[in-house]
Amino acid sequence: MDIFENMYKTGFVPVVVINNADNAVKTAEALLKGGIDFMEITFRTECAKEAISSVSKNVKNMIVGAGTVINLNQAKEAVEAGAKFIVSPGLSEEVVEWCIENDIPVLPGCVTPTEIMKAVSMGLKNIKFFPANIYGGLSAIKALSAPFGGIKFLPTGGVSEQNLSDFISNPKILAAGGSFVCAAKDIDEGNYDAIAESAARVTDIVRKIRN
Ligand code: 3PG
Repeated sequence: MDIFENMYKTGFVPVVVINNADNAVKTAEALLKGGIDFMEITFRTECAKEAISSVSKNVKNMIVGAGTVINLNQAKEAVEAGAKFIVSPGLSEEVVEWCIENDIPVLPGCVTPTEIMKAVSMGLKNIKFFPANIYGGLSAIKALSAPFGGIKFLPTGGVSEQNLSDFISNPKILAAGGSFVCAAKDIDEGNYDAIAESAARVTDIVRKIRN
């Protein structure tokens, strides 16, 4: 099964901001406890690389990727640290080309037909749609799916426990993503039980729709 099939099955990709690499493994374990085996650690903090490396080495059932990857150097650093997939807020040709050459699953952010056409021309079938709540949410994705029937979307930005089922009921949605499952505050304060409980609620929502 390829990583995108797994992502579809899991149905949700937590967007994780780690401020202290020491918290990465416990966060990953809490997500797994709640049934989520994907996490996107964002390159927004100094310790992102260390956090990815530590999850990749110590939490074997977690599929860890890097998010907020905005240049080639970050993509290389993330993969070197053990990232299994790359997510970007927009489409960087050098990042996408390098990932394709190195067989690394990549999800660039695309919200306009022109951006999606670029992704398609580069051979991609999966893209991020960010910020989903600003760019028209599910209605925009439905409209874009008419001309781009072969594309699956990973919407993030404004996804919540309340609207998650609406997103993942649509087969054009690869998975939904968001930070609400493990808010930076909960990670910083070590509220791992809250993270595991929130992940379990998300898992329940997904299981009712996909499996
Ligand atoms: C992202 O990078 O995908 C977003 O910051 C996630 O958005 P959210 O915080 O609204 O979930």
